[in-house]
Amino acid sequence: MTKSFDVAVIGAGPGGYVAAIRCAQLGLNTVCIDEWKNEQGVASLGGTCLNVGCIPSKALLESSENYARAAHKFIDHGIHLEGLSMDVPVMIARKNKIVKAFTGGIAMLFKKNKVTSLHGRGTLLKQENGLWKIQVKNNSEVEEIQAEYIIIATGSTPRQLPFIEVDNHRILDNSGALALTEAPKRLGVIGAGVIGLEMGSVWRRLGAEVTVLEAQPNFLMAADEHIAKEAQKIFTRELGLIIQTGVKIKSIQVEGQQIVVDYADAKADPQKLEVDKLIVAIGRVPNTVGLATDEIGLKINERGYIEVDEHCCTNLSKVYAVGDVVRGPMLAHKASEEGVAVAEMIASTKQGDANESAKVNLDIIPWVIYTSPEIAWVGKTEQELKSAGIAYRAGQFPFMANGRARALGETSGFVKVLADADTDRILGIHMIGPYVSEMIAEAVVAMEFAASSEDIARIIHAHPSLSEVLHEAALAVDKRALHI
Ligand code: FAD
Ligand code: NAI
Repeated sequence: MTKSFDVAVIGAGPGGYVAAIRCAQLGLNTVCIDEWKNEQGVASLGGTCLNVGCIPSKALLESSENYARAAHKFIDHGIHLEGLSMDVPVMIARKNKIVKAFTGGIAMLFKKNKVTSLHGRGTLLKQENGLWKIQVKNNSEVEEIQAEYIIIATGSTPRQLPFIEVDNHRILDNSGALALTEAPKRLGVIGAGVIGLEMGSVWRRLGAEVTVLEAQPNFLMAADEHIAKEAQKIFTRELGLIIQTGVKIKSIQVEGQQIVVDYADAKADPQKLEVDKLIVAIGRVPNTVGLATDEIGLKINERGYIEVDEHCCTNLSKVYAVGDVVRGPMLAHKASEEGVAVAEMIASTKQGDANESAKVNLDIIPWVIYTSPEIAWVGKTEQELKSAGIAYRAGQFPFMANGRARALGETSGFVKVLADADTDRILGIHMIGPYVSEMIAEAVVAMEFAASSEDIARIIHAHPSLSEVLHEAALAVDKRALHI
């Protein structure tokens, strides 16, 4: 007999597995279908984020940062290390262990919540008598199941350059960049986006000479321009990344042991870069391959994203889509929150109570780049406010003037608060500095609760703590910062 469920979730990344758990918590009989296999060919839940994204990259960022601290910063604390060395295979093994623990953890969470887990590719076939038929194909094994509701969470895959194929030996995407067993002598990175900067930082700290080639005329154009300028200065001068913006890649050839990149620089002059490994990190594309039959007519836009409304409803009845495969930032926390919202909407609809409020506020999503120093922001940038003609006041405060940052020996960077000129409501908060990945949470809470800069200025922040930098930046909006 065909197995029947209330909800079938396709994809077990942070969008899908969280949606499945929330559905099950709400009493829905739920199946989650996922096709991911790890390097050993074993099914591994958690999607990009847990297998080759957020979690492994942060593990390697931490190991490489520890090495860099030991090599360059311990001396300031009077700690002398002789014969310092690194063991990259141990770093990679540690990263793999963390990944295994977390991907295995999802399997346990599924068991605990009674989510049925099926391995294989899910294809939406048709809707019959109010039930969706889904084919699940695992090599030669094919099974058909049915469910009333569908949540698509099939994620994204790396965008490819037209003239060279990733082999994850010399030409690497994120999977290959996370699996090198030694630092290459010369590493090229195409794309100075989030992956390029995080992976470039890892291998630079471990000794590679790293050159980053970016097509955009300016560095890190998604970030606030003051933060981007500060970041470029620090990454170039302190970390030693070679960053070239405004380039046009002409060709990439593998010649013997090396890779030759021919490109035009910002002045349109021809240049050549010779490297031992090349990371291609030029963005990601939504993954809809083999997801649905043509006849059901799932609407996909010209950029490849599944079209959804603000509630993540697709054009098909009782079919939702969340995460990287739909519009909005490609971030794990955005995918998960959409998964939760959709699960709650399905549960309340089944109880005859349409929950209109179940949607994610795409305007207040934190971004973090885990470089050193870290970069984090939420809300609008100064350039966005200017181009929208919104009058604002800005307050800024440097980590250099903060006691905790001095004690840590991490004094680069600053925090900037942007507030509406009339109402003082916070419109954006931008940070570059130590542990701003943690500090940004206060900014998100403030913005979700429609706080003013004065609200943050009046809240008591512990002393000495890095959070005082946000406090002072909020005070600075009203030109009354105390410690500068
Ligand atoms: P995915 O995680 O991509 O999961 C989709 C799953 O669906 C996969 O397992 C896939 O195999 C499966 N699938 C696809 N099609 C089918 C099908 N037809 N049938 C069955 N299964 C299918 N984000 C952050 O917020 N913070 C970070 O620090 C961060 N770091 C990152 C670092 C790197 C190197 C990369 C590459 C990404 C990083 N991201 C980070 C982004 C984050 O990984 C994604 O935004 C997130 O994984 C998206 O979740 P998702 O559930 O939409 O899709
Ligand atoms: P990205 O969109 O962040 O950056 C890609 C960069 O490549 C851009 O700056 C773009 O201008 C450049 N580019 C595009 N085509 C190019 C070309 N032909 N030549 C030179 N440069 C070119 O994409 P990335 O780094 O691949 O990451 C994908 C996504 O994964 C991110 O946007 C983010 O959503 C997510 N991610 C999030 C992380 C985090 O939250 N810390 C970490 C890593 C990834």
